[in-house]
Amino acid sequence: MLRDDVLTLLRQQEGEPLSGEAMSRALGVSRAAVWKAMEALRQEGYLISSAPRKGYWLEESPDLLSAGELARPGRRVGGEIICLDTVDSTNNEIKRRAVGEVPDGLTVVAGEQTGGRGRRGRSFVSPPGKGLYLSAALRPECPLSEVSALTAWSAVAVCDAIEAVCGIRPGIKWPNDVILNGRKLCGILTELELEAETAALRYVVVGIGVNVSQTEVDFGPEVAPVAISLAQALGKAPRRAEVARALLDSLDRLYTGFPQERAQWLERYRADCLTVGQPIRVLFAAGEREGTALGVEEDFSLRVAWKDGGEEVISSGEVSVRGLLGYV
Ligand code: BTN
Repeated sequence: MLRDDVLTLLRQQEGEPLSGEAMSRALGVSRAAVWKAMEALRQEGYLISSAPRKGYWLEESPDLLSAGELARPGRRVGGEIICLDTVDSTNNEIKRRAVGEVPDGLTVVAGEQTGGRGRRGRSFVSPPGKGLYLSAALRPECPLSEVSALTAWSAVAVCDAIEAVCGIRPGIKWPNDVILNGRKLCGILTELELEAETAALRYVVVGIGVNVSQTEVDFGPEVAPVAISLAQALGKAPRRAEVARALLDSLDRLYTGFPQERAQWLERYRADCLTVGQPIRVLFAAGEREGTALGVEEDFSLRVAWKDGGEEVISSGEVSVRGLLGYV
């Protein structure tokens, strides 16, 4: 949409003026069309100043999740971005759009999810305007065995984005819950699609849900005791658009380094992982066992020392882990 393109140009200027003439040339449209797009932006709450012979510049933006706010032209993640007010699930939306060729790095962001999904078939509460719900389609070129590492890498990328915007670094509850003050700040659901005949990877969807301004009431009585939003942790909610941009930047860095930077990301994951050293309860399909998390292996599986003796390496697909001293 022209309005998004005009906004992207204005944002790239970082407050410096840009003439209507330059914009119409850059976008290949008339100056009248640029002016109309600018008026539409003002209607949405953008404060755009102008001065003769200088042009237009952006003074203030509302906290909107729009392509003009979030687009990352030329980047792999977010180079193509779709922003929706509401959707069942941003992961589902990627899958619907991936029937034909999947644009590498295609990103879907929504202001609300009516059927947000979590791991193990759970739902992910996604009230309107409160959280950041984002999914990106990635097509990494690597053996299938390496793809599962994307989930752990994504948790580190979320920690990077939160630290960049809020100045505090969350931790990770193995395998991939992002934790602040001992509660869950963000969940990640990674799904993949294979070619039926060849079992070759078509694409991976990395779906990320960050709690931004939820209150206890928004989470509901079941989730509230274990969840936290940035507003609850910081006393003030950051702008969702700012968190989204930081997340797109860190996901882009992740994708550029995947999988060759495996050693660095493993080291970073180990540094962020709060589970190591903690007493945990591991839920298997057949029952549960208690032990202590000893460390994260090279493939991001977890080494556990069982309370009743022996050690075992567990992988995230098989088990669910509960902290014995609080959520972590
Ligand atoms: C979990 O904690 O179990 C994972 C939650 C993942 C939620 C995100 S929100 C964006 C994307 N769309 C979904 O339906 N789920 C993921």
